[in-house]
Amino acid sequence: MDGLGSSSLSFIVVLVLVLNVALFCNGGKTSSFVRKAELGVDMPLSSDVFQVPPGYNAPQQVHITQGDHEGRGMIVSWVTMDEPGSNTVIYWSEKSTRRMKAEGQVYTYKFYDYTSGYIHHCTITNLKYNTKYYYVVGIGHTRRKFWFLTPPPVGPDAAYTFGIIGDLGQTYDSNLTLTHYERNFQQGKTVLFLGDLSYADRYANNDGVRWDTWGRFVERRVAYEPWIWTVGNHEIELNPILNIETTPFKPYTHRYHVPHEASSSIDPLWYSIKRASAYIIVLSSYSAFSPYSPQWLWLQLELQNVDRSQTPWLIVLMHAPLYNSYYDHYMEGEPMRVVFEPLFVQFKVDVVFSGHVHAYERSERVSNIAYNITNGDCTIKRDQSAPVYITIGDGGISKAWLPNYSAYREASFGHAIFDIKNRTHAYYSWHRNRHGYSEEADSMWFYNRYWYPFDDSTASIQSSM
Ligand SMILES: [Fe+2]
Repeated sequence: MDGLGSSSLSFIVVLVLVLNVALFCNGGKTSSFVRKAELGVDMPLSSDVFQVPPGYNAPQQVHITQGDHEGRGMIVSWVTMDEPGSNTVIYWSEKSTRRMKAEGQVYTYKFYDYTSGYIHHCTITNLKYNTKYYYVVGIGHTRRKFWFLTPPPVGPDAAYTFGIIGDLGQTYDSNLTLTHYERNFQQGKTVLFLGDLSYADRYANNDGVRWDTWGRFVERRVAYEPWIWTVGNHEIELNPILNIETTPFKPYTHRYHVPHEASSSIDPLWYSIKRASAYIIVLSSYSAFSPYSPQWLWLQLELQNVDRSQTPWLIVLMHAPLYNSYYDHYMEGEPMRVVFEPLFVQFKVDVVFSGHVHAYERSERVSNIAYNITNGDCTIKRDQSAPVYITIGDGGISKAWLPNYSAYREASFGHAIFDIKNRTHAYYSWHRNRHGYSEEADSMWFYNRYWYPFDDSTASIQSSM
């Protein structure tokens, strides 16, 4: 070998290998910003954010979510404490004086020594797109009035802005996160909520009072824009120790209704909606997902039903991340990754949002689906057909963390915005809570996997995988 001896060649090979390992292990960027370390403290019951609205039997914990598959329906929910009261919602379009009425239903539940208030759910249908509606609840006792905006018609170039929050809880940090989201100039119109709502299960006997306080805390936003609910582990509340509480998800499923039947789902823990140019699939990390389970069977059909010429942006929500390089909850999503990841790659999912890990992380487009048990090919690879995996489990509950590799990770609280511009481009940004202020700490231009499937990797990792 002329000019380059075998020892030199060996040295270069070793050097390349070492560099590859170093790059792979270090991946992208680990932010040097670390939030203060103390454990998140819940706001006291006397906190002003938990105030009960005045008036006899006044509706409280008012919240809305999409009520159909296309975005022309809204589920309006509220709780009354003194008596059941009316199930009626009166609503009208900003452009009309004609008052309309919808009738809902009322539910209660007991959990050990806690009895819920009267939980009302009322679905409004046949709303006009792109319209402001006012609505009133509490008919016959104390009326309260709110409003919401309906989305644009489902279509490939409908611009729309989603906020993304996970693991919110009711700590002082939770309040900061919600405040920062509210003040974000990009103005999210709907929140994709990634599970773990109230953390009431951290209290003795899973104190339902902390579900009520959480409902009152978030009302200031969720009464005015729909939040799309995903179930987390803190909603399981399976408590055989309490002897009589053996039904999982009991408080959550009574308090938060979703339009699962509109997407032919048999279970409110997994379902889908269309909103503007997005098709959003919500999955349950805590329901069976193995092949031939109801959730797996549903997802197979569901993905085939997605028409990217109508809804270019295919977004999946789940609580436990499939890719997570923190020590906390490491590999918890692995069983689901093995089952669902090939589908996500086959159907070119744009992005998977998760919570659960109480920090922030964004992956590059990677997959690990080649392994067939005989080929030994079980290494994560860059894959432009794969989704970006984003963990936003950093609403307000703190926990220890340790990084390993990814495109970007940071142990802060915060929220994100997914701003769809048209069928090809969406601007994604993550906003950390920094000493009482909010600032953009990570961002990425998403190229749509169906309409514009070019490499949209961020520069920091392009050479490493
Ligand atoms: Fe969780």
